[in-house]
Amino acid sequence: MQIPQSIDGVETLLEEQGYVCGRGLSTAMFLALRLGRPLFLEGEAGVGKTEIAKAISKGLGRKLIRLQCYEGLDASSAVYEWNFAAQMIALRAAEAGGTTDGLKDQLFAEEFLIERPLLQAMRPQEGGAPVLLIDELDRTDAPFEAFLLEALSDFQVTIPELGAIIAPEPPIVILTSNRTREVHDALKRRCLYHWVDYPDFTRELEILTAQAPEVSAQLSREVVAFVQQLRTEDLFKKPGVAETIDWAKCLLALDVVTLSPEVIADTLGAVLKYQDDISKLQGSEAKRILEEAKAALEPA
Ligand SMILES: Nc1ncnc2c1ncn2[C@@H]1O[C@H](COP(=O)(O)OP(=O)(O)OP(=O)(O)O)[C@@H](O)[C@H]1O
Ligand SMILES: [Mg+2]
Repeated sequence: MQIPQSIDGVETLLEEQGYVCGRGLSTAMFLALRLGRPLFLEGEAGVGKTEIAKAISKGLGRKLIRLQCYEGLDASSAVYEWNFAAQMIALRAAEAGGTTDGLKDQLFAEEFLIERPLLQAMRPQEGGAPVLLIDELDRTDAPFEAFLLEALSDFQVTIPELGAIIAPEPPIVILTSNRTREVHDALKRRCLYHWVDYPDFTRELEILTAQAPEVSAQLSREVVAFVQQLRTEDLFKKPGVAETIDWAKCLLALDVVTLSPEVIADTLGAVLKYQDDISKLQGSEAKRILEEAKAALEPA
């Protein structure tokens, strides 16, 4: 499928995949597609950074290639490596058969190449250029970032034994970061940037309805109002949208019709993942937040 020709087109495409985004994010996505620039998304955990890459790849019918970053990630895990074991077997077989002429070229042929995400993304794919998701970039280290900068600037990979592999059409690149450290300016400069914030009540309700339509409208409203209120509290780790959806599904599984302080106390582990935060909400706190949340719901 071709890329949408307008911001509204991007929003519709994403909505069809159950992804609800605000104007800022859809504009950034549209421009990234239109200008062929990588999109760099930063934001808290569970606000839909990874999900948008999945939604756009599904919506456009493009292959999603994901590079999950971690400390110590290097080129052999990100770009390519030679299949050493297979090369050894071929070598032994050639030696045994006495056919070692031109062996070096045979051993460094494409059949012994293990392609990792960055190289896969340079290859032509059915349906058009793939979506390359470079997820949680803040977990890698500076040398890998510098390497990535080069790969993203010319979309080509050079393998000494095989030569340069050039992408016929640059992939659609989405980078995400939880901002556990600052990503270098040089890399950011290559990208369009968008900070993905927690959604407001209306949008979060839309997301929940899209992702968990089986939860009743009333319970969905209460859950979202409570989570929104919870985010204003002084917590070590605020709940993301992912937690809202999880919690609503848990409540549904327990046949809960409406929120009460008891139900909240029993299911808090779906929303808060740190004991300090959970213990803060024991006793009258949950009741107070629930009352505030319900009061905020009243005028609607
Ligand atoms: N705008 C949205 N529309 C639809 N679903 C959403 C949206 N935002 C979040 N979600 C839901 O929340 C879940 C978590 O989102 P996602 O994994 O993209 O978060 P993230 O920002 O990548 O978090 P992390 O930093 O922890 O990786 C998704 O599986 C999706 O169901
Ligand atoms: Mg993610």
